[in-house]
Amino acid sequence: MDITVIGTGYVGLNAGAGLASKGHNVTCVDIDEEKVEKINDGECPIFEEGLPEMLEEMVSEGKLEATTDTVSAVASADVVFLAVGTPMDDEGNINLEYIRQAAEDVSEGMSERDGYQVIAVKSTVVPGTTEEEVLPILERSGKEAGEDFGVCMNPEFLREGTALKDFLNPDRIVIGELDEKSGDKLEKIYSEFEAPVVRTGLKEAELIKYGSNSLLATKISFINEIGNLCKQLGIDVYDVADGVGMDSRLERSFLNSGIGFGGSCFPKDVRALIRFMEEEGEDPKILRNVVELNQGQKVKLVEQLEQKLEDLDGKTVAVLGLSFKPGTDDIRQSPAIDIISELKEKDVNVKAYDPEAMENMEQRHPDTVYTESYQEALEGSDAALLVTDWPEFDEISRKDLKTMENPLILEGRRMDYDLPDDKTEGVTWP
Ligand code: UGA
Repeated sequence: MDITVIGTGYVGLNAGAGLASKGHNVTCVDIDEEKVEKINDGECPIFEEGLPEMLEEMVSEGKLEATTDTVSAVASADVVFLAVGTPMDDEGNINLEYIRQAAEDVSEGMSERDGYQVIAVKSTVVPGTTEEEVLPILERSGKEAGEDFGVCMNPEFLREGTALKDFLNPDRIVIGELDEKSGDKLEKIYSEFEAPVVRTGLKEAELIKYGSNSLLATKISFINEIGNLCKQLGIDVYDVADGVGMDSRLERSFLNSGIGFGGSCFPKDVRALIRFMEEEGEDPKILRNVVELNQGQKVKLVEQLEQKLEDLDGKTVAVLGLSFKPGTDDIRQSPAIDIISELKEKDVNVKAYDPEAMENMEQRHPDTVYTESYQEALEGSDAALLVTDWPEFDEISRKDLKTMENPLILEGRRMDYDLPDDKTEGVTWP
C-alpha cells in the first residue's frame, strides 16, 4: 500500500522504515528540510540501533522517501499516519499545536485525492482528541468522515533504544476505529505482522496508550517505594522483585528499582493523564503519587552521597551515564539533569561521561567537564554516581577504582560488574 507518515521523530521514522521493510511504499513528511534531505540521502537523523541500516536499505530500494510537501504526499496515500509530537505544556497538558497543524495540512492533501483513504493518529493523545479535534479539521477537506475517508487511532508502543525491533514485533496492534471500514483498511497494513490485533473505538485506543504507559510507570514507582524500604532494612530489592515477579498474575518486567523513570514518554504521559482526569472531575490519587515518588527518587543518589562524604563542597564527583536509558542519546527528563543541577548547587566539581549523550547534555549543562571515557571521569574523583546502565559500565574494574581519590560508586541503576561490596552501594539495595 502507499503510506504517508507525517513526522519523522522516533515513532514516525521507525514506523516508516518498518512498514517499508514489509513491502509498503512509504513517504515520510517533515517540515525540517535538513532532516528530509538527510533521509533521502539514506542517512539517519536520530540515534537508534538498527535504524540507519534499515533506512539506507529502504531508501536505496526506492521503498521509502522523504518530503516537505504534505499535500502531494497525502494525495497519493492509501493510509496517512499522523506521528507528530504532543509535547507537554507548563501545566502538564498535552500541546496539540503540532497535531492540529498537521491535520490542517493533511486536509488540504485530502481534497486533492480521488477515492477513499484512511487517516490514522499515531501520536499520543488524550481520549476524545481524534474524534473531537482531528476529525473536524480533516473534514475541512470537504469530505465526510466514515463516508469519503476513514479515521483510526493506532497507538504505538515502541521503546527508544529498541524502537525498530519493537515496531516490527509488537505484543499487540491496537486499532481504534471510527467505523469498521476504516479499521479493515488499516488492519491490512499489518497483514505481515505476527501480533494479535485489538479492534476498538477511538477513545478506547487513546486510553489504552495512556493506560499502558501509566501502569508501567506505576510499577516502577511501586518497586522504588518498596526499594526505599529495602534500603532501610539493609536488604536487596532485586531479590524481592524476583520473588514477586514469579507470580504469573504479576510480571517481573518493569520492576527494576533505581533512580526512577525519565524519557519523553512516561513523565509526560502520566502528567497528561492526571490533568485529563482532573478535567473530567476525577481524582487521580495513584498517579499523582507515582509522579511525586519519581521526582524524589531521581536525586536520592545525591542524598546518599552527602551521607557518605559529609561535606560535598569542592569535592569531585564522576557522573556515569547521562541519557535517560541505555541505547539512546536522548536526555529528555533524564535523572542525570537533576542530579548534575543538585551537585552544582552543592559546589561539587562534576566530571560527566556518556557514550552517546554528552553533546545533548552539554547544551543543558554547558559548564560541566565532559570526559572521553568513564576511566577519565573516575580518575581522581571522590566518588562516582552511576546514572545510566550502559553495558560498558559493567567493565568497570578494581583497577579503575584504584585511580579514584576515594574509591566509591553509588549506583542508581543495577550493574553486573565484579567490584568489592564495600566500594559500591545501590540506591535501593546494599
Ligand atoms: C516507553 C514505553 O515502554 C513504550 O512502550 C512506549 O511506546 C514509549 O514509552 C512511548 O510512549 O513512546 P521509553 O520511554 O522509550 O518507552 O523507555 P522505557 O524502556 O519504557 O524506559 C522508561 C524509563 O523507565 C527509563 O528511564 C528506564 O530507565 C526506566 N525504567 C524502566 C526503570 O526505572 N525500571 C524498569 O524496570 C524499567
